[in-house]
Amino acid sequence: MIRIAPSILAADQMHLGRDVRRAMEAGCDYVHVDIMDGHFVPNMSFGTDLVHSLHTNFPELKLDVHLMLDNPEKYLHVFGQYAWGITVHEEIPGDVRSCLETLRSMGLNPGLSLRPGTPAERARPFFDLADRILVMTVEPGFGGQPFRWDMVDKIRELRRMGYTGSIEADGGLTLENLPALLEAGLDVAVMGTAFYRSLDMKGDIQKIHAMGEDGRS
Ligand code: DX5
Ligand code: ZN
Repeated sequence: MIRIAPSILAADQMHLGRDVRRAMEAGCDYVHVDIMDGHFVPNMSFGTDLVHSLHTNFPELKLDVHLMLDNPEKYLHVFGQYAWGITVHEEIPGDVRSCLETLRSMGLNPGLSLRPGTPAERARPFFDLADRILVMTVEPGFGGQPFRWDMVDKIRELRRMGYTGSIEADGGLTLENLPALLEAGLDVAVMGTAFYRSLDMKGDIQKIHAMGEDGRS
């Protein structure tokens, strides 16, 4: 079973509510929300109020919050009130284990994100605590970048290492590169540009769900 999380970084920012609704009506499983601080990545995006507002306006929506912050530990409790799941990066200066433990104690779905340059091996110490590993398939910070094909092997490697949790890929995903990701062991596809540029969001989601049924499920 493959699940899809449209990334609202690629939505029309002047019509965010409309674009979230379009994703829901098309049958998305989650909505992916990128939180950037201008330090951990060279860009800024949404803040706590937006995530609060999404939760208030769409209470049934599962928010997959991707924290690209130097100090996520300061914000876990506030985002945690509204999110379905939160991922923190392995490369932060702070204590990753403690962040994942906090997320678990809050009943959230704890996730660990890896930049493209971070080897799969660095995730191993967190296998017991991370329900999800988010493999960045572009350098984090911006939507619309080309997919890094070398990251398919990182997903395969995580499976080879015995990781049985969910694996999510984020950055440059399209209907064309998804079959390779699925074959490597992907469960959750984050899709920004390709989803919001699609002329048939519902049809695309149906195709993606069907790919999961045909492949590993
Ligand atoms: C990049 C973000 C992604 C981005 C993906 O740092 O983490 O979630 O929105 O968008 P596309 O699919 O356009 O690469
Ligand atoms: Zn993201």
